[in-house]
Amino acid sequence: MRRKWSGMALALGALVMSAVAHAAPPSAEMLSNACGGCHGTNGASAGPSMPSLAGQNKDFFIDAMKKFKSGERPGTVMSRLAKGYSDEQVVAMAEFFAQQKPAPAAQKAAVDRAKVAKGKSVYNSACKRCHLENGKDFEEDTPVVAGQWLKYLQIQMAEFQSGARKMSEKKTEKVKSLTADDWDAVAHFYASQK
Ligand code: HEC
Ligand code: HEC
Repeated sequence: MRRKWSGMALALGALVMSAVAHAAPPSAEMLSNACGGCHGTNGASAGPSMPSLAGQNKDFFIDAMKKFKSGERPGTVMSRLAKGYSDEQVVAMAEFFAQQKPAPAAQKAAVDRAKVAKGKSVYNSACKRCHLENGKDFEEDTPVVAGQWLKYLQIQMAEFQSGARKMSEKKTEKVKSLTADDWDAVAHFYASQK
């Protein structure tokens, strides 16, 4: 009789343990799976207007989610979606995506060679200071832009030009003499980076 009871106690213990495991907060990977439908598996987006998150700068990611939440940055879906996550969850996801291998987009729209060449010189004079290594590297809260989807880059640049998406004072000063053609050329330049 005693043996039977202790066996049951053990089985019960195991049941409780597994219930506890199920109630544990979702891991960063589990949280990030909810983003895959749009941003691709592990943040490698299938494009063309969905940004890749794989290898993105963690600090920029956290800042972007804050700005979507507060409404400072315009979003078609992210403004609502970001509100569903706590600061801790955002940090966990930012770390998860930052660790993923960058996935340069297999551009669907044609990347124009003449624009890439022009874009490189615009980049050198107006963007290089902050978007390091042709946009592959970053400092502080600057995003990785190299190999991002062309269409997505064009949408963001249009938002910067219209003022819908804010730029820092430093950046505004640096890009103030750019024409729409210059912006478009840098979009092609960034998109062409592998
Ligand atoms: C229904 C599609 C959809 C889902 C699901 C989705 N996103 Fe997004 N995400 C977008 C779009 C579209 C943008 C561009 C901004 C906008 O229009 O809202 C974006 C932009 C972003 C950006 C800014 C990237 C950059 O380079 O500036 C981050 C960060 C981001 N999403 C994180 C997430 C996270 C984290 C999740 C999962 C919790 C998620 N997204 C789920 C569609 C989605
Ligand atoms: C003074 C530093 C600085 C300079 C110069 C600069 N940027 Fe940025 N850029 C940033 C920062 C910081 C962000 C993130 C802003 C935010 O989301 O609030 C950003 C964001 C972007 C984004 C959005 C990417 C994304 O995934 O959301 C694009 C595209 C971009 N910059 C292109 C350019 C181009 C093109 C130039 C040159 C013509 C340029 N930037 C010059 C600092 C800079």
